[in-house]
Amino acid sequence: MSKELMLRNIERAQRAIDENRETVKNGRMRQRYHFMGETGWINDPNGLIYYKGKYHFFYQCNPYYGHWDYMHWGHAVSNDMLHWEYLPLALAPSEAYDDYMRGGCFSGSAIEYDGKLYLMYTGVTNDGKGFEQTQCIAYSEDGIHFEKYDGNPVLTPPEGVPSHLFRDPKVWKHGDAYYMVCGASRDNKAQALLYRSDDMLRWEFFSVLAESRGEWGYMWECPDFYQLGDKYVLTVSPMGAGERTVVYMVGDFDYETGKFSYQINGEIDWGYDYYAPQSFTAPDGRRLIVAWANCWDWMPFWKDWGPAYKEGWCGSFNIVREVQMTENGTLKFLPIKELESIRTAGSSQAELVLGAEETEIKAGDGVSFELRFKIDFENTDADKLLLYLRCGAGKKIVCTFDFGHAELSVDRSNSDDWSVGTSHSVMYLAGKKELDVHIFSDQSSIEIFTDNYQNNHSNNIFAGNEQNGIKMCACGGKVTVTDIEAYGLESCE
Ligand code: FRU
Repeated sequence: MSKELMLRNIERAQRAIDENRETVKNGRMRQRYHFMGETGWINDPNGLIYYKGKYHFFYQCNPYYGHWDYMHWGHAVSNDMLHWEYLPLALAPSEAYDDYMRGGCFSGSAIEYDGKLYLMYTGVTNDGKGFEQTQCIAYSEDGIHFEKYDGNPVLTPPEGVPSHLFRDPKVWKHGDAYYMVCGASRDNKAQALLYRSDDMLRWEFFSVLAESRGEWGYMWECPDFYQLGDKYVLTVSPMGAGERTVVYMVGDFDYETGKFSYQINGEIDWGYDYYAPQSFTAPDGRRLIVAWANCWDWMPFWKDWGPAYKEGWCGSFNIVREVQMTENGTLKFLPIKELESIRTAGSSQAELVLGAEETEIKAGDGVSFELRFKIDFENTDADKLLLYLRCGAGKKIVCTFDFGHAELSVDRSNSDDWSVGTSHSVMYLAGKKELDVHIFSDQSSIEIFTDNYQNNHSNNIFAGNEQNGIKMCACGGKVTVTDIEAYGLESCE
C-alpha cells in the first residue's frame, strides 16, 4: 500500500513538472551552466554520488511552485556535472512520518549497499504535537525508482534533542561498518551526532562529534564529515551564527573512540548565497562539494529569495568545487576542472596598469563568463582596486579589493531592481607579492574566488542581459594586474 502511495504522489508531481517545463525553461533569470531544478523550488543538494558510471545529484524540491513547501527529492544524472538529464523524482511525501505540507522528505545522503542504492533522509511530519524529525531509509535496485523501508523511521531524536531539531543524515562506510553524522541541538547549542550501523537499518549512537559553545549557533544543518589526506574535515551550516553560513573544522579523528579534535576552522564562502554543502568523491578520488546558492529567511541579511519565482522556479547550486588542503592545514575550494570544457572565445593579456579611469574588460557576452587575473603588489601603490561587474542601465555590482583595510567586499545594492547587501571578508595580504582572482558569472549569480581559493564570495544578482559591462579602476594610485584570462561560458541547458 505504502509503495503505491509514494508512486501516486510522484506521478502527480511529475504531471505538474510536465505542465510547467516549457514555461519555466524560458525564464529570463534561468542559469546557463549552474544546476537547477526543472520547475518549482529547489534547496539543498542531497544524496550526491557517483554511481554506475554517472554523477547522481538528488535535491530538495517542491516541484509545484517557486516557494519552499512539501519537500520531495528531485534527481538528475550527468557525465560532467554541467550537462544534466532529469530523472523521475526519487522521493515524495507519502507516510505518516513524512507526509506533511510544511515538512516531507528533508535532506540526506546516498550510499551503495548490498547491490542497491540506499538513501537516508529526514522524514518530517506534524500531527499536532509540533514538528517531528526522524531518520528514514529508501532503496532502489535500478538507481531510479525508490521504495521506502517498511521499518521506517530507523532513528528518532535522542533524549535532550528537541524533535524538530534532529536532521540531515550524511552516511559513509569505514571498514565493515557504516557511519552517519546528523545535525542536532541540545541545551540550545548545536551538535553533530555520530551514529554507527552494521546493516544500514539498525543505528546506534556512537559519539558527539563536535558541538557549538554558542559561537557557532544553536543548530547545525547538513553536517558532513570526511577524511582528507591524513586529517578529517567536518562542515556544518549553523543556525544562529550571524552572517556565517558554512563553517569547516579540520582535525584528527579516532574510529575507536569517536573523538574528533579539531585545531583549525574556517569558512568556505563569505557571500550570502552559499549554504548546506554536501561532499562526495569522484571516481578519480577528488573530494567535491556542492552547495545551494541561496539563503533562508532566518538569516540576518535575508530579504527574499529573488524574483525567479515569478518565472515558476527558484534556486540553483553553486559551481561544484574541489576541496584541497593547503600546507598549513586550512582548506581551499577550487572550481572543478570540467568547467574548462565549456569555455569559448578565450583571450589573454599579460599586463594591464589601471589608474583612476575606468578600463573596460571583455569576457564572453559579459553575462556568462569566466575571468582570471592577478594583482601584482610589487607594481601597485593604490589603496583599492574596484571591479564592476554586470554594468549597464545605470546599475552594477561593485567588488572592492581594499588593500589598506585588508578587506574584500561585494556590494550588490545597486546591481539590479532586487538585490541588497554587501558581503565582506578579510584578505590576508601580509608578505604577499600577488593576489589571484578568479570569477564565474552566470545569468543570476557571481562567484568570486581569491587568495588561493580560500577567500570566496557567492552572491546572487538578478540583472537582465543589457547589464553586460565589466570595468576596473584603481583608487589613490595605480594597480597592476597581470595574467589576465577571459572566456565566455557555453550554455548547458
Ligand atoms: C537546510 C535545510 C535542512 C533541511 C532542508 C529542508 O537548508 O533547512 O536542514 O533538511 O533544508 O528543506
